[in-house]
Amino acid sequence: MKILVTGGTGYIGSHTVVELIKSNHQVVIVDNLYNSNINVLDRIEKLTGVRPLFYQVDILDYENLEKVFKENAIEAVIHFAGLKAVGESVSIPLRYYENNISGSINLYKLMEKYHVYKLVFSSSATVYGDNFAVPFKEEYGLGDTTNPYGTTKKFNEIILTDLCKANENMSCVLLRYFNPIGSHESGMLGEVPNGIPNNLVPYIAKVASGELDHLRVYGDDYDTKDGTGIRDYIHVVDLAIAHVKAIEYCNKLEGVDVINIGSGKGYSVLEVLHAYEKACGHKLPYKIYPRRPGDIATCYADIEKAKRVLGFEVKYDIDKMCEDSYRFTIMNPEGIK
Ligand code: NAD
Ligand code: UD1
Repeated sequence: MKILVTGGTGYIGSHTVVELIKSNHQVVIVDNLYNSNINVLDRIEKLTGVRPLFYQVDILDYENLEKVFKENAIEAVIHFAGLKAVGESVSIPLRYYENNISGSINLYKLMEKYHVYKLVFSSSATVYGDNFAVPFKEEYGLGDTTNPYGTTKKFNEIILTDLCKANENMSCVLLRYFNPIGSHESGMLGEVPNGIPNNLVPYIAKVASGELDHLRVYGDDYDTKDGTGIRDYIHVVDLAIAHVKAIEYCNKLEGVDVINIGSGKGYSVLEVLHAYEKACGHKLPYKIYPRRPGDIATCYADIEKAKRVLGFEVKYDIDKMCEDSYRFTIMNPEGIK
């Protein structure tokens, strides 16, 4: 299939493009390079032997986005493009609503206009909020989001559900990702956070490389095995493979379907830290800090539906996630430049 990948030079997008090319799909990338680097294209080419067609276009720019549809017979879309920093979304909510909702609406309008009816959307476990018991199951529906970023994911889910109701040709798979970490095992693709990372593994990576002096563990008084927060970490390459399965599933799907993508297992902050110590071969200092506002104690996926509907199960464990993250960190001290 000829697949448009928005946000395709970003962290999850670039890994997905590699897996799509490996599965013989043709890829067209749209990205404004706000949070990624053009050199990702060279790296995708080195890994796959194929250089995907690239348009540096902002999805808020309807006219230039339309050119992409005019110039390519797009058959399906995987929509990653979006802003994703939770804390920032609280400070500048309109920027998040504009980018993640208005930008997405431009894309959905063009899909209708050019009769492109298959879409995989990057949603997040954050849409469950703090309302439900673990493991989170798709049928719980949408919880109360706690920040504008999460609300943009929830709104997109609602918009796409309505679109599928209104247009019987439309098929959308809403993938609710749990916590993607790790990097391509070549060390050529990975996550490059701007400034001091907010997320756990990017932060630990900087402690391991000596850039930051200790991990701040946000809370050791949760009702969990060691008191620290528990999350469901998934290797980004496993997540990328899930997208290939999801886009192929779209071909036989009618309407909308929501699917969790996680490992189904929960690891505490200290367990992840210890796995990373094994990967980098030395102790990593940490200090206990107060809980981070908005955090929940435990979050992990019910993965039965991904297995049943997509035939998807993760291949990589937490040790491999940390080894690959560390390799990328050491091989790319200045990120992807
Ligand atoms: P990322 O920032 O690495 O990739 C997003 C890409 O989209 C970037 O390359 C950025 O330049 C591009 N982009 C942003 N706004 C754009 C716009 N207006 N027009 C064109 N391009 C634009 O992020 P990621 O971690 O790869 O996440 C991909 C998607 O998955 C996002 O929608 C994110 O919200 C979602 N998601 C991520 C996580 C996670 O932990 N990384 C978890 C759940 C959901
Ligand atoms: C966070 C976002 C979530 C988003 C996801 C992916 C919040 C409240 N949630 O999820 O909406 O979809 O990232 O971008 O921001 N931790 C530390 N020290 C750190 C960083 C994290 O102890 O320096 C702990 C956290 O308290 C949590 C765990 O590590 O228990 C994982 O945190 P993180 O990687 O930020 O992911 P989430 O909070 O699950």
